[in-house]
Amino acid sequence: MKNLLIVANWKENKTVTEAIKFLEDFKASYEPRENVTVVICPSVLEVSEVKNFIESRNLKVEVGVQDVSEYKEGAHTGEISATQAAEFAKYVIIGHSERRALGETDDEIARKITNAKSARLIPILCVQNEDTPIAENTQIIAYEPIGAIGTGNPDTPKNAERIAVLIKEKNANIKYVLYGGSVTGENVQNFINMPNISGVLVGGASLNAASFSSIIKNA
Ligand code: PGA
Repeated sequence: MKNLLIVANWKENKTVTEAIKFLEDFKASYEPRENVTVVICPSVLEVSEVKNFIESRNLKVEVGVQDVSEYKEGAHTGEISATQAAEFAKYVIIGHSERRALGETDDEIARKITNAKSARLIPILCVQNEDTPIAENTQIIAYEPIGAIGTGNPDTPKNAERIAVLIKEKNANIKYVLYGGSVTGENVQNFINMPNISGVLVGGASLNAASFSSIIKNA
């Protein structure tokens, strides 16, 4: 059985109250699996409460953030450094297409990855196709074709596998290639069945405890 990574990207959703309600519902339906690591990435304002809930209830879930600053520290109003994030989180999503659409460049992304690693955060680098630059020593990639995100039109598992193989051929250090884009409890297994897909990055379907649990169960 291969090791899987299932990552929830809550994006700009949920207040603390809503996040705790999600976790209470999720705890009731979640069946941890030996080979599956589950990561929840709330917005930074929820991270501390989510971490406290997970630890106090002994939930087998890791915490991630959705971005970190390209700067290490200093006079950068509104930014959150990798070191600050690492007090709460173990993982960080970097280079999501929604951030690239706001102007984030490959150079900024490379600096974010460097900062994440030096703060001992594990970066999950989002790429849109096989040509997106991948910083050296990146171990987790999420292949997320733009047209599949939030549209209900996922890529085909066969194409996702083809891209995963190309990415791995070009980058020897990669341990996990995840697929992201309109993943649901109904389609997740088709992606996981592909030999080179080792998990999923889930947006919309991770916002509801029952649908996120069903993705974990069916993966
Ligand atoms: P989606 O988003 O599951 O809502 O398509 C995925 C993502 O943006 O990571």
